[in-house]
Amino acid sequence: MSKPESDPLLLPREAWASRLGLILAMAGNAIGLGNFLRFPVQAARNGGGAFMIPYFVALILLGIPLMWVEWAIGRHGGAHHGHGSTPGMFQALAQRPWAKYLGVLGLFNPLVVLIYYTCIESWTMAYSFFSATGRYFGITSRGEMGVFLQSFQGFAESPHFPAGFGTAYAFMLLTLGLNVLILYKGIVAGIERLAKIAMPLLFLFAVALVVRVITLGTPDAAHPDWNAAAGMGYLWNPDFSKLMDATPWLAAAGQIFFTLSLGMGSIQCYASYVRKNDDLALTGLTTAATNEFAEVILGGCIAIPIAVAFFGLVETQQIAASGAYDLGFQAMPIIFQKIPLGHLFGCLWFGLLFFAGITSSVAMGQPIMAFLQEEFGFSRRKAVAILSMAVFLCIQPVVFFRPFLGEMDFWSGTIGLALFALIEVVLFGWVFGMDRAWEEITRGADIKVPRFFYHVIRFVTPAYLLFIFGFWLYQDALPTLRMSGVAAADRPLVLWARGLMLFIFLLSLLLIGHAFGRRRKTGRTA
Ligand code: ALA
Repeated sequence: MSKPESDPLLLPREAWASRLGLILAMAGNAIGLGNFLRFPVQAARNGGGAFMIPYFVALILLGIPLMWVEWAIGRHGGAHHGHGSTPGMFQALAQRPWAKYLGVLGLFNPLVVLIYYTCIESWTMAYSFFSATGRYFGITSRGEMGVFLQSFQGFAESPHFPAGFGTAYAFMLLTLGLNVLILYKGIVAGIERLAKIAMPLLFLFAVALVVRVITLGTPDAAHPDWNAAAGMGYLWNPDFSKLMDATPWLAAAGQIFFTLSLGMGSIQCYASYVRKNDDLALTGLTTAATNEFAEVILGGCIAIPIAVAFFGLVETQQIAASGAYDLGFQAMPIIFQKIPLGHLFGCLWFGLLFFAGITSSVAMGQPIMAFLQEEFGFSRRKAVAILSMAVFLCIQPVVFFRPFLGEMDFWSGTIGLALFALIEVVLFGWVFGMDRAWEEITRGADIKVPRFFYHVIRFVTPAYLLFIFGFWLYQDALPTLRMSGVAAADRPLVLWARGLMLFIFLLSLLLIGHAFGRRRKTGRTA
């Protein structure tokens, strides 16, 4: 692919070297920890087959339409106007100066998610080493495995980690360093090359794990109904009885956003490096389809089925309910000790998570890089130095104080994503105009996009998102703001976490105003 057209006043922009590279990078952007850790936990907590119906409805009415919307906003902003981040893209769409401020969540969401995501990613790297070296081998109860995880994180004392948080801190630095290095190398030599190596390995590891899970048989003769098939049956037998309950619908919509990286600014950013008339309909659909294959087929065949085979269905649901990481970091390490070649399979599981994580985290860093390089005119070296310093500073409380991670995940990784999706779909379908929006989506398309989606993007997706917000405001907003259910000792930390996020949000707004003020002075327009 050659360089995209752009504003001649702007620096020449990078472009993907090949269509395969673009598809792998986009798939890497979407496929992440959400597919293999978050999805099984959400499915198990929300009733298995009862969760999958709202999940597929959300995929059709939110996921696929928003994927096309984000690709189209990205290609329009990048190829026509030279912007890789949403403030510039939104200003270009609306042709109004205020619109750039609506793009603030396209900086805030990826930055905040990147901060806590890097932390979890570093645990997967550490556990991959622990599996290879057998560091957790010999711990056979879930309680003790929980103590192992907490002492690794520095939140509990135990003889497993006499140096306290030191090991976790070293892995965090290593993980952050790798992300920074890839971003520094740029789109082709960094992100595209990483995707070409990591994505085939990720699929290879996942297939090896799936084959292992489905050939397990019945590991415990005393419990003949504990097997992988029972776990899959739990997921795949539709359960219509719980459809009137709003909780699985909200959880499913949240999962669709997170897993497809929607509302993060990162799909738009990657799409900004394609040419004006390059297909986006088929490639966008391929991104969503590859992600769903990795999530429901591969992700759905590993953690839940293997946990049901070793712990039974009831305990698997309890594990999922007891904490977001209990299935991946407590139950799985126990299982690896019970199967032949457990060191290897442990390595494959955590290695798979690490590759899934890093191909997503660099995608969260790239919109910030694009903003600093394109709107401030900074060199890549300077942009990467600023980004890595910001992440390094903000990750400190996440490493040391437990409530930060959950609080950031809620406000940016859940509420922030859906709010940003609502803003962009209204801006694109109603302010930019649905006929022009449809032309953007279908121009150069290698498939015929069903006209049905014209109406979905215009009416159904915004209405669905409004309903989600309305329901959240009605049911959860006040108790959440008042910190109901938060332990008294954690409340000051939750407030600190909110203060940090408010600071990042306001600073992002200020930077947008400043950057575009500079553009006006130098004669650069949207
Ligand atoms: N889409 C990425 C994930 O699933 C963020 O983890």
